[in-house]
Amino acid sequence: MKRTPVCNILSITHPVLQAGLAWVSNPELVAAVSNAGGLGILHPTAGIDADGDMVANLEVNIRRVQLLTSNPFGIALYLPNPRIEEMIEAATQEGVHIAVTYGGSPALYTGTLKDHDMVVLHQVTTVRHARGAEAQGVDIVIAEGFEGGGLRGADKVSTMVLVPQVAGSVSVPVIASGGIVDSRGLVAAMALGAQGVQMGSRFVATRECISHPSYKEAIVAAIDSGTVILGGDRWPTRVLRNGIALRIKEEELHGTDNDLEAWEAELGITRARAAMVDGDLEKGIAYTGAGAGLISDVISVAEVFKELVEGSQALARRLG
Ligand SMILES: Cc1cc2nc3c(=O)[nH]c(=O)nc-3n(C[C@H](O)[C@H](O)[C@H](O)COP(=O)(O)O)c2cc1C
Repeated sequence: MKRTPVCNILSITHPVLQAGLAWVSNPELVAAVSNAGGLGILHPTAGIDADGDMVANLEVNIRRVQLLTSNPFGIALYLPNPRIEEMIEAATQEGVHIAVTYGGSPALYTGTLKDHDMVVLHQVTTVRHARGAEAQGVDIVIAEGFEGGGLRGADKVSTMVLVPQVAGSVSVPVIASGGIVDSRGLVAAMALGAQGVQMGSRFVATRECISHPSYKEAIVAAIDSGTVILGGDRWPTRVLRNGIALRIKEEELHGTDNDLEAWEAELGITRARAAMVDGDLEKGIAYTGAGAGLISDVISVAEVFKELVEGSQALARRLG
């Protein structure tokens, strides 16, 4: 796989990031990705009890990753989280140097993170947000297309058209995310102007991920049309097409969308945890990207990377 400037900025071998995944980017997954030469990203909620302490959980998980790898890894930071300063402090104390921020203005904490000597990546869903992030001094932007799993940008711009526009609008490196699950997606993203990729759903369906086996199997079973968008126009959220998702969608048609509290109650926390951690696909909803139809096996992280490396080499030969 071709090295890019992103590899130097993040001190990694392959320009492949595992997305910070609510509830399920556990230390074993993160370490396996970093050991394979990519960048694993811890999420503060990974493996936490329903009423657990996020900061303490993050500290414990950082130490666990450090036992499993000596390679770099990052942490995901939801900018509106009321305890974000404690999380930054904890990460700094534990020697983490990479943060992926999302869900709010990069004006809020980029300066603080840089003062703590951290490399800052910020997730964006439009060109305007990418320019704003660059102006705030982030090192890398992650362009998040509409194909991806979980909460999406309200503007609903797809990876295919977002990445080249963002890459043409900022001078910091761009990582493509959303719908990328294998070497074909990786090579396509590079052709669109990205210097790396971030993948979520592909890593959920790996052996190292603590996501529930039923959730992994449901991803494997999904076809091209196997996901739906809930959350209305304001909080579009891509989830597996199961019975409860279709029922919520039906309710939205009767006017309950566009309400953040309703989003949190219906899609944000309890129901997502129920499906993704506890495997209750009757009562729970499961964040999943539209690329699920391309995922046909639960494999190891090393196998994901083997395919990325060998497949991109074969594609390079084929495409000339
Ligand atoms: C299980 C799961 C949990 C996610 N949790 C978050 C999250 O907490 N914050 C966030 O910004 N994105 C989250 N995402 C979205 C990912 O960061 C990423 O944008 C997405 O997975 C990329 O698309 P893909 O799934 O097609 O690879 C999540 C995605 C999945 C599948």
